[in-house]
Amino acid sequence: MAEQFDAVDIIRTKRDKAELTDAQIDWVIDAYTRGVVADEQMSALAMAIFLNGMNRREIARWTDAMIRSGERLDFGKLPRRTADKHSTGGVGDKITLPLAPLVAAFDVAVPQLSGRGLGHTGGTLDKLESIPGWRANLSNEEIEHQLGAGSGAVICAAGTGLAPADKKLYALRDITGTVDCVPLIASSIMSKKIAEGTDALVLDVKVGSGAFMKSIDMARELASTMVDLGTDAGVKTIALLTDMSVPLGLTVGNALEVRESMEVLAGGGPADIVELTVALAREMLTAAGKPDADPEQALRDGRAMDVWRAMIREQGGDPDAPLPTARHTLDVVAESDGILQDMDALKVGVASWRLGAGRARKEDPVQAGAGIEIFTKPGENVRKGQKLLTLHTDDEDRFSRALESLEGTLTVSQEPVVERASVVLDRIAR
Ligand code: URA
Repeated sequence: MAEQFDAVDIIRTKRDKAELTDAQIDWVIDAYTRGVVADEQMSALAMAIFLNGMNRREIARWTDAMIRSGERLDFGKLPRRTADKHSTGGVGDKITLPLAPLVAAFDVAVPQLSGRGLGHTGGTLDKLESIPGWRANLSNEEIEHQLGAGSGAVICAAGTGLAPADKKLYALRDITGTVDCVPLIASSIMSKKIAEGTDALVLDVKVGSGAFMKSIDMARELASTMVDLGTDAGVKTIALLTDMSVPLGLTVGNALEVRESMEVLAGGGPADIVELTVALAREMLTAAGKPDADPEQALRDGRAMDVWRAMIREQGGDPDAPLPTARHTLDVVAESDGILQDMDALKVGVASWRLGAGRARKEDPVQAGAGIEIFTKPGENVRKGQKLLTLHTDDEDRFSRALESLEGTLTVSQEPVVERASVVLDRIAR
């Protein structure tokens, strides 16, 4: 059968800064999914979009075409409303782990279809796989059962049926320098979230050195583009812009982050993690029609922990099993007396990745016990020789490369440090 368009004409259109028509977008996404548009042609188009952008109509159509490339889940028959959260990714960002059971404790179903880590940001599934027996791959029937008749919370791998065009395109963008582009990120994230079929969606758009978006203006543009896409598709969508200039909490890694999440579920945990978990839970609960729910109380009285334990068991895990630990540790100490000035999220994320907590290629294994424990945050007083971090790994020869990536951060001086008032920087809703 003759094809409706020629890929080269579509590339030229965007190269020459013109708008793509709806029909051109529908065809190029479909033809790329079918293998008719070649990877090199899609790379050229992605680069033309990276350089010349897309307007709101083009982004909405591009998102819709990617949704139509695969299946759509429908949770309409569930006895509970659904609410989901998506983070654009950061260092020490384990919020999904306490958040999903916390929101489900209020009888709101949380279908958290997640991914694995690539590069310096960790992956939720990699973290949970450090729990002995826990299973990331569930069938659609298992997901529906867990959400409807079970604990109400599911954190699992997104199936291959959701937005397959995005899966192919994201892998291509990863190797062609076209990831950090607002129209392509917004359509990539929202095609998966809309296809997932949630009623409400709260976006945690990270800003700072450890995030995709280094400036608050770019983060605002990404957030409002995604809020518009979600709202237009009938999903109640809200975005919080949150700080990612220093790591979140006091652990970075897989088992280390699970341990810290369980501290939060037990009513403790670091203040920034608790603040963000509660802020996102309030947004999700309000969007799901429960504005009076009190998430702080559910952390204190153990209801969220009960849902966590049920959720881990439903997916084959043992919530009481000891978590794996790394074979080797190395302390990083303060070089002088004074005030800790900085802890660059990107440098800490790369160090953790080099210790074995993350992967360079998607088929690489990760070490469950690898990562970094943080003992002091910027603004705190330290004494010479005081422990700032402990590095964890199974391979001692990884320490030197991890230490290299920490060069230029963890400086100590007598300068006072302005402490951030809140991890939440802004809120965007329609
Ligand atoms: N996460 C996604 O799913 N897609 C992007 O493009 C970037 C981050």
